[in-house]
Parts: sequence; structure tokens; C-alpha cells
Amino acid sequence: GVVPLKEILDPAFQTRYGVPAINIFNDLTIEAVLAGAVEANSPVILQTSVKTVRSIGSRVLFDMWSSMTRGIEVPVTLHLDHCPDRAVITECLKAGWNSVLFDASSLPVEENQRQTIEVVAEARSYGAQVEGEIEAITGVEDDHGSDEVSQQQSLETVLAYLDATGIDVFAPSIGNAHGTYKAAPVLDMTRVSEIVEARNIPIALHGGSGLSQEQFADLISRGCAKVNISTALKETYMQSSLAFLKQAEQDNNWDPPSLFKHTRADVITMVKELAEQFGSAGKG
Ligand code: 13P
Ligand code: ZN
Ligand code: NA
Repeated sequence: GVVPLKEILDPAFQTRYGVPAINIFNDLTIEAVLAGAVEANSPVILQTSVKTVRSIGSRVLFDMWSSMTRGIEVPVTLHLDHCPDRAVITECLKAGWNSVLFDASSLPVEENQRQTIEVVAEARSYGAQVEGEIEAITGVEDDHGSDEVSQQQSLETVLAYLDATGIDVFAPSIGNAHGTYKAAPVLDMTRVSEIVEARNIPIALHGGSGLSQEQFADLISRGCAKVNISTALKETYMQSSLAFLKQAEQDNNWDPPSLFKHTRADVITMVKELAEQFGSAGKG
């Protein structure tokens, strides 16, 4: 069923598996990601970019989520990804989202911290959880962010931020990036261990698309319990659709439901593979 983010992350963090946190963007991807999780018997986090919230509307998006998760046998939760806009945070919490990433990483860390404290208080009043970020993660995710590499904060600053805000999950910048990697990234795995050893807080791994199985396994063993995947789903969706449409053109056969069926099957396969890779398969 639909549960708070915490209920999904706690066991994953304690026993060291990663839960796929997948950026969905329409009805088909919501339904297919959920179906993949059910087939893998895996918990799953569905997340929405601000762009997706704006393009579909929070009401319609939440209604689709509610109807598609009714009676679902695996633990699932709805999360708002990178959101610098307090009004959108409030809108989604009101609509029923289970958690939010308040992304004020473009602000000075003191101001970020001050506002994150407010967001945590607001989220708590809805029984919701908060992911926090004080170092911008490199790359662009649905119009958010830039390719500039931001400065990592000191461990001391990170720990002070965690203590002051009481956030539930932290998103560090460790050489990871949104989008496809041009070269294999060098990741600061030690930073994950340092934070986890100091504060025992689950870590969100951003920029998951393009990382290797070895990198996932290492990061998950260190405490990355939430593993964000966006670009890989977009690619799977578009490539699958493109392949189908090329054939449709050749055959001069224009039947939308068979396109959806084809794309859905490829999305389900992708989700099952991620659940196997991250160790969440069978943990539903
Ligand atoms: P990728 O697009 O690299 O998978 O990153 C996803 C992400 O971090 C979403 O916040
Ligand atoms: Zn991200
Ligand atoms: Na990536």
C-alpha cells in the first residue's frame, strides 16, 4: 500500500539495499513503474519533477497515483523531486504527496538551513518527510540545475545542517550528475560513509542513470537507500516508442493501444532490472 517514505527507507537503510526512486512523467509511466515493482515484489518510490507537476497538474497527478495504487501489494510512496519553490511544496503536501525534496542548494547554506527547518515543520503537519540538499547536484534534471560542478560543503557543515533541520534523507554531491555521464564518474564514496557513520541517516543517490553495477553496490552498502533514476526511464520510454513507431510506419498500422502496450512492457523490464540490481527485489 501507500506508506510514508520513512517506512520504505528504514528497512532498506538498515539492511542495506537500495530502493529505486523513479521520476515518472505521465499515466503510462506511473502504471508501468508500479507494475514492474509488483512483478519484482519490490518497494518503489515514484517521484515527480516540478516540471511534471506543472505539466499535468497536482490534482490530476495525485488522482492518477491514488487510483493506480489502490490495493497495491508492495510498499509505494509519492515524492516531489528537486523543488526550490515553497509554493509548489505546499501545493503537493496539501494534495497528498508523502515527501518532498526541498532543493535550496542555490541559496547560501545558512538560508537554506533556515528555510529547510520551516519545510520540515510544514511537512510534519501532513505526516510527510523531507529530503534535503545543500550542494547542487551537477547536471540538468527537467529544467532544474546546471552543468557547473558545485563546491562540496565541509562534513562539519553537512552535520550541522542535519542536526539543525532534522531532515529524513540527505542528498550529497559526490561527483554524481543528472543525465548521461560523458566519462565514468569518480565518486566520493567516503563522503557517504562519513555522513552515515556520524548521523545514521539514509542517503539519496542522485544521478543514478549511467552508474555501474559496482558503483551502485558500493554506494548502497554504505547507506544510499534511495536511488534516483530519471534519464534511464525517459530513454527507455522514448526509444521503445520510437522503435514501435518506425515499425508502425512501415506497416501503415496506427493503433495507439499497441504502442502503449509495447512501451509499458519495456518500462516494466527496466524497473525489474533496477530492483534486481539494487537488491530491493523480493523486499516488498
Ligand atoms: P538521472 O537522470 O541521472 O537518473 O538522475 C535522476 C535524479 O537524480 C533525479 O533527481
Ligand atoms: Zn536529482
Ligand atoms: Na546520471
